[in-house]
Amino acid sequence: MLQPHRPPARSVFGSLVLIAVVVGASAAAFAYTAGWFSPQRLTPDKLVDALTPPGVDPAGHRRNHAKGICFTGIFEANGAGSALSQAQVFARGQYPALGRFNVATPDPKEPDAKVRVRGLGLQISTPDGQEWRMAMIDPPVFPASTPQSFYELLVASGSKDPDAMKTYAGAHPEIAAFGAWAGSAPWTGSYAEERFNSLNSFIFVDTSGAEHAVRWSLLPAAQPVSVPPDDLAKRGPDFLEQEITERVHGGPQRWTMVVTVANPGDPTADPTKAWPADRRTVEVGTLTVQQIEAEADGPCRDINFDPTVLPTGIRTSDDPFPAARSSAYAKSYDRRTAEAADYPRTTPGAKP
Ligand code: HEM
Repeated sequence: MLQPHRPPARSVFGSLVLIAVVVGASAAAFAYTAGWFSPQRLTPDKLVDALTPPGVDPAGHRRNHAKGICFTGIFEANGAGSALSQAQVFARGQYPALGRFNVATPDPKEPDAKVRVRGLGLQISTPDGQEWRMAMIDPPVFPASTPQSFYELLVASGSKDPDAMKTYAGAHPEIAAFGAWAGSAPWTGSYAEERFNSLNSFIFVDTSGAEHAVRWSLLPAAQPVSVPPDDLAKRGPDFLEQEITERVHGGPQRWTMVVTVANPGDPTADPTKAWPADRRTVEVGTLTVQQIEAEADGPCRDINFDPTVLPTGIRTSDDPFPAARSSAYAKSYDRRTAEAADYPRTTPGAKP
């Protein structure tokens, strides 16, 4: 009679050791990723935790730029960008756009007039199945030169120590350019009058494989009108959302996308440093915002405008921010989508 095949005892032991090694290595990899071996290391959890000041409840909302409103429209490429990038989004044509106007606060209840920085998240889809996602803001430079110093800035601004910000600024003089903008740039009464800037640098790859370091901006067609912040405060806590809803109802709003090409040696890894004003610029197309929808049930609610979601023909550069942003946005996305019950949808039958 045939005996059932039994592996020799030594090979069973060997298999167990192998399993233990694989499980142990996976656990160690998770622990490393979570930063357990190196408490000094900057992790997405630390960055996202530092964004929420004490007393603010962001449940269900983005952990930064928590207040916003969705839009849909069209990006019309004029074809000029194809000289810089092989991405289909630059080939002459019209492509669907989905986005979100927002204010840079971690508090979804913050009055609009109190928030200095305004932002725009955008996703453009092309027939080749690719997407270009981006999230831009209105200052001309970022306040911090690295993700680590941005984290330190968040910690300083949330600190009870009254000198924390002064100490931070002393150690990080590069914040001065942002501070000068924040202190002197006019405030406007409309998202439609804002210029939105990528600030981070990316690489465009053209059809010959040549690479071009770039930043880009959306320039408003509407003429900016300066309004003192005290006057804005009288317009109500959500005046920006109300204004853009009425404005787009009255007619589509447009922005020109302008790509700025770096000269050799321009700083691409530091968004506190603007490039000289004489750099080559290329107008590549027009964003037209055609419809506004409230965020609670709107199409931007569950989108993560991760700046590393890029089509072929655009890639990240040596700028360390997009990778750090990607991991922090994913963490924020995971948290807010798990808390959907704290931010109920308003349409009956909408998914929870
Ligand atoms: C290390 C630096 C940064 C961190 C940790 C950070 C963190 C975050 C987080 C957690 C969100 C919410 C994401 C979500 O839940 O979908 C967010 C949104 C946003 N961030 Fe950043 N951010 C950083 C740098 C920047 C920079 C450099 C810009 C602009 C140039 C920017 C512009 C925006 C905008 C516009 C949004 C709103 C996007 C939307 O509507 O969904 N951020 N950020």
